[in-house]
Amino acid sequence: MLRHAQVCYTGGLEFTFTLLEKFKMDKPKVAACFPKQVELEAGKNYAYCTCGLSADGALCDGSHKGTGFTPNVFKAEADETVWMCQCKQTGNAPKCDGTHKSLDADD
Ligand code: FES
Repeated sequence: MLRHAQVCYTGGLEFTFTLLEKFKMDKPKVAACFPKQVELEAGKNYAYCTCGLSADGALCDGSHKGTGFTPNVFKAEADETVWMCQCKQTGNAPKCDGTHKSLDADD
């Protein structure tokens, strides 16, 4: 029912549902069932989103506030292209390990 309402309505109602979702999170949201290509620069710090609420999907935008989740902050050791996990189920965060291929549509 809640999921149906989120699909059908926008604006204030969707914002309210988003807040409710935040405060009952016991596991991360699946931002997407595929990885995101990210270009890393050596020596630069990055914050990988662990809650799945970031609009970016891969990198933190502060949406975790109030959820109990915190971003995974790391420094890139080299200039490289990585495929960052957006399903938040990887065993090799922040990188995709292929786990997304085993997720059901309801995960
Ligand atoms: S996107 Fe999460 S394991 Fe691939």
